[in-house]
Amino acid sequence: MPLVDMKDMLQHAYDHGYAVGAFDLVSLDFLEGIMSAAEKARAPVILSLAESHFEYFDFELAMPAVEAAARRASVPVAIHLDHGASLESAVRAIRLGCNGVMVDASHADFSENIRISRAVTDMAHACGITVEGELGYVPGVEGEDAERHPGEVAYTTLAEARAYVERTGVDCLAVSIGTVHGRMKGKPKLDYQRLKQINEALGIPLVIHGGTGLSDDQFRRLINNGVAKINYFTALSDAAGASIRASAREDRGNAYTGLVKGVREAVAAEVESRMRLWGSAGRAAEVLSRCRAWTPVEHLIVYNVEGADETRVEMMMEEGRRVLGAIPGVREVLTGRAVQAQAKYRYTWLVRFCHPAVIDSYRDHPDHVAFADKLFRPIAGDRISIDYRIVETVFSVRHHDRTLGAGSA
Ligand code: 13P
Repeated sequence: MPLVDMKDMLQHAYDHGYAVGAFDLVSLDFLEGIMSAAEKARAPVILSLAESHFEYFDFELAMPAVEAAARRASVPVAIHLDHGASLESAVRAIRLGCNGVMVDASHADFSENIRISRAVTDMAHACGITVEGELGYVPGVEGEDAERHPGEVAYTTLAEARAYVERTGVDCLAVSIGTVHGRMKGKPKLDYQRLKQINEALGIPLVIHGGTGLSDDQFRRLINNGVAKINYFTALSDAAGASIRASAREDRGNAYTGLVKGVREAVAAEVESRMRLWGSAGRAAEVLSRCRAWTPVEHLIVYNVEGADETRVEMMMEEGRRVLGAIPGVREVLTGRAVQAQAKYRYTWLVRFCHPAVIDSYRDHPDHVAFADKLFRPIAGDRISIDYRIVETVFSVRHHDRTLGAGSA
């Protein structure tokens, strides 16, 4: 089960002087390309999903595939919400399977950024989830020409970085030191001195957004100054676009499948070269042995009711699914009835938590307390419950059995 705790993964990179790539994916081809590169390079990897890209794919439909790719991998994987728009976005992303979140309030003024980031951190940490904050402003739009969205780089200042991390409790910090999102014409000038000072003062993994277009030397210097996560998208999108254009030239009659057939390989090649450059290649085994595995927990109750007819039980279950399903860290709420009429217990709740931390935060959450005290416990005195870890999930086809290229169709 190589989904691993993202904080542990980033700490390992930070402590050992390399950076993990956080590659934004926008399709199954991207997902397969990124995972294939990670397997080949034996590298830890972050599968990143940017809210600004949700217009290109259905986040809710994509996440089961992303999670399955992570779980069947043999290299360590984390799943991250990139540039989330709100606290609600983060709660939703956690419900769908992300184990790291970023809510980007860097456009807001300093105190508002702190307020929003603090709320996200409080919620996410109660669910065992890693949080990335951003301070300063990295202009541009992923996948587009940076010159079309010039905006001013707002540099992260040392004093604000210190106060922000102290007051929000974020686990890693995205800093603005001269990079821009998207495609660049010139070479960006990076402020290494600023980065060095921030790194020395904070001592936590730093994140660079707008990885596309930086030189090998620039990447090395960033990593030497505390950058442990590099966000990367536009170059993948460009490689995919170039592959599609080449397929169109090769055969003007190519339809969809013919046009996209080389996209996975093109994405994989770009990702693999980054993993080798950023030093994450060859680290998979170490990371797997040092980082906590990401293991979900389930909360199961079997019970009988007294003093309530079937209609009231049905209403109670419906209300429970609605209320409990919205509590942060809850991934799913299933209610059930026994199949056999003579069963010792007649009803069940199965509540899926993203992480063991949710056992406590769920139990104490005011919505759970109110539901349990008012609607459930008064009629369900006869019950037993257990919280248990999922011990093992076996996938019949492992990703590295499916090599890209001639045999992959
Ligand atoms: P690029 O598109 O410039 O690689 O930046 C990606 C990014 O920062 C996503 O958050």
